[in-house]
Amino acid sequence: MTGWRFACLLTGVWFLAMGSWLCAGVSNSLLDVSADGRLIVCSNRDNGSVTVIDRARRQVLHEVPVGSKPEGVSFVGATHTVAVAVYADDLLVLVDADQGKHIASIPLFDEPYGVVSNNDGTRLYVTQEYPGTVAEIDPEARRVLREMSAGVMPRGLALDENRHRVYITEYLSAAILAIDLESGSIVDRWQGPSSENLARQLVVHPTRPKAYVPHIRSRVNVHQGEGSVLPFLSVADLDSQEERRRKTLPMDSFVGAFVVANPWEAAISPDGQTLVTVFAGTDDAFVSEVLDDDYRELSFRRVLRLGHNPRAVRFSPDGRECYIYNALDFELVVLDTDGFNRLGVVSVCKSPLTDEQLTGKRLFYSALEPMVGRRWISCASCHPDGDPDGRTWQNPEGLRNTMTLFGMAWTHPIHWSADRDEVQDFEHTIRGPLMQGQGLIRGSVHDSLGTPNSGLSADLDALASYSNSHKFSLSPHSRQGLSEAASRGQQLFQAAETRCVECHNGPFYTDSRPERPFRSHDVGTGVDDPTEKLGPTYDTPSLLGIYRSAPYLHHGKATTLEEVLTKYNPEDRHGKTSHLNSKQISDLVEFLKALPFEEPEADANRAGLIRIEK
Ligand code: HEC
Ligand code: HEC
Repeated sequence: MTGWRFACLLTGVWFLAMGSWLCAGVSNSLLDVSADGRLIVCSNRDNGSVTVIDRARRQVLHEVPVGSKPEGVSFVGATHTVAVAVYADDLLVLVDADQGKHIASIPLFDEPYGVVSNNDGTRLYVTQEYPGTVAEIDPEARRVLREMSAGVMPRGLALDENRHRVYITEYLSAAILAIDLESGSIVDRWQGPSSENLARQLVVHPTRPKAYVPHIRSRVNVHQGEGSVLPFLSVADLDSQEERRRKTLPMDSFVGAFVVANPWEAAISPDGQTLVTVFAGTDDAFVSEVLDDDYRELSFRRVLRLGHNPRAVRFSPDGRECYIYNALDFELVVLDTDGFNRLGVVSVCKSPLTDEQLTGKRLFYSALEPMVGRRWISCASCHPDGDPDGRTWQNPEGLRNTMTLFGMAWTHPIHWSADRDEVQDFEHTIRGPLMQGQGLIRGSVHDSLGTPNSGLSADLDALASYSNSHKFSLSPHSRQGLSEAASRGQQLFQAAETRCVECHNGPFYTDSRPERPFRSHDVGTGVDDPTEKLGPTYDTPSLLGIYRSAPYLHHGKATTLEEVLTKYNPEDRHGKTSHLNSKQISDLVEFLKALPFEEPEADANRAGLIRIEK
């Protein structure tokens, strides 16, 4: 047994006697350190690989390809085997970190994000964002033992072996849920206000029953830089039954009025005394002292200035070093923990992005000038990794549900009202009340539908190029082809009577084309929002990937696909659905959930559709 695990066990026995304990290193992260402290591993999302680093020499040992969009990584118990949650390929990949070799791939249902191991390495737990489960896996047998319901879009994950519980965080509500591992059911829930959003992780204190969750609040009624998106760290009392057992520390007023944006991960030192939170929008981190007061919880120590888009942070098992992963510099920063001085930087992989896309991606994630004047917000606060934030914003033109950016290169014009014809028009958003940035164009900006804004700024073109680069992954509902129900639904979808294909046609299931005049349709949905300024016609949205993008319609009032076809189509103005019985509606929904069941781009090329590169 390694020194650290042993120390942890001793503390554990002590705290078990006291009633509770947890061991650091059992929380999910995009970064992990082996129990013997010899190896560090990080996942390179853009590169589809993990990098193994020799900790003492600060040198890369191996870069191992694992698949599309790897997220969480964890060493399996005290071994040098690494488990990697490969988000877009729906795999848990096991890698031999000493040899730098792929050992096995375990298929999962969909979107694995966080992974943790138990102490002796006999069990792995993985959050699957869709449809919302935790998978329990035997790494030896390479088998999923069971799937437990875990709320809506779980990402963060921590294991408490002594109490036989896992804790998860829901991505779009930042709620913490406790799952009892005996029964496999949800036994407790710590919920904040409904504005809480984008929680990817939780860390548990090594000795006290506390969990810390970095997240934002999306305040959808505020459409200006200050007050719309706010950074938080929530602290949950895992033992308490009191009402006020979850408190929220505002990270923008934590140190005077020093504003930070997009908290991504946090880490606690093994002695439980120091907590570091990284901010992926403002490229910095806070180092805080953990207080044992159940009141203030943290006391600020210092700000760390980092590189581009820091997403992950971990301590070494001996607590002497801290590691931060700057995702858009493709590097790991090594800090000491006395003064948090930089001991070194390890370049973990080459950037797989073109220079232009890297520039664009950095701008997209940045909450600093020239994108943003007041630091709270970035494009990625509402479009994290191209996904929607699950919110409907009260924009000046009316209620607007955040849309996904996947496949957008093929579905211009953009916005629900087709009021923009190129991503460069977001210069208006950058300079407007929401972001208040200097902007990327020198001089004046053309109207959104007027003379093009492309070609006026290399940086703005780069932002467009990155925004247009998001590709769909196939629906997990049609991996074995269309089910019988989905095939019946497809017939209904294609039937002349329902009229769906009049508007939802072609490989992206939309008639939206970058040719003027732009088409838009009144499907009867413009009547539900008194604040609407641009209705009642809307651009036909693509239907690919809608199995996971609730809520629906421009106003976000339809919470399910059924509701789009029933409650929000009372007069058959949005296709004809009133003649369908409930079984037929559910068949049609099964078909919609199966999209995309084939790769759309090849078809789009064949059909000669126009692809907007930037
Ligand atoms: C406060 C949240 C928020 C921020 C910040 C934000 N967006 Fe959006 N985005 C939205 C919403 C809501 C919509 C739908 C608006 C509409 O249709 O009128 C949207 C729509 C879009 C679309 C249209 C997608 C399509 O398929 O039609 C693009 C592109 C986009 N945003 C890019 C950006 C970029 C680039 C930035 C940063 C400059 C940004 N957004 C900042 C919320 C946000
Ligand atoms: C006349 C054109 C037209 C027809 C016909 C049509 N749609 Fe639509 N569809 C639209 C438009 C426009 C919207 C966006 C409306 C809004 O947001 O208010 C939309 C939205 C949707 C959405 C919500 C997508 C999202 O991301 O929120 C779904 C699902 C959908 N349609 C399915 C169907 C089905 C199924 C049929 C056939 C029964 C159908 N549509 C018929 C034009 C059409």
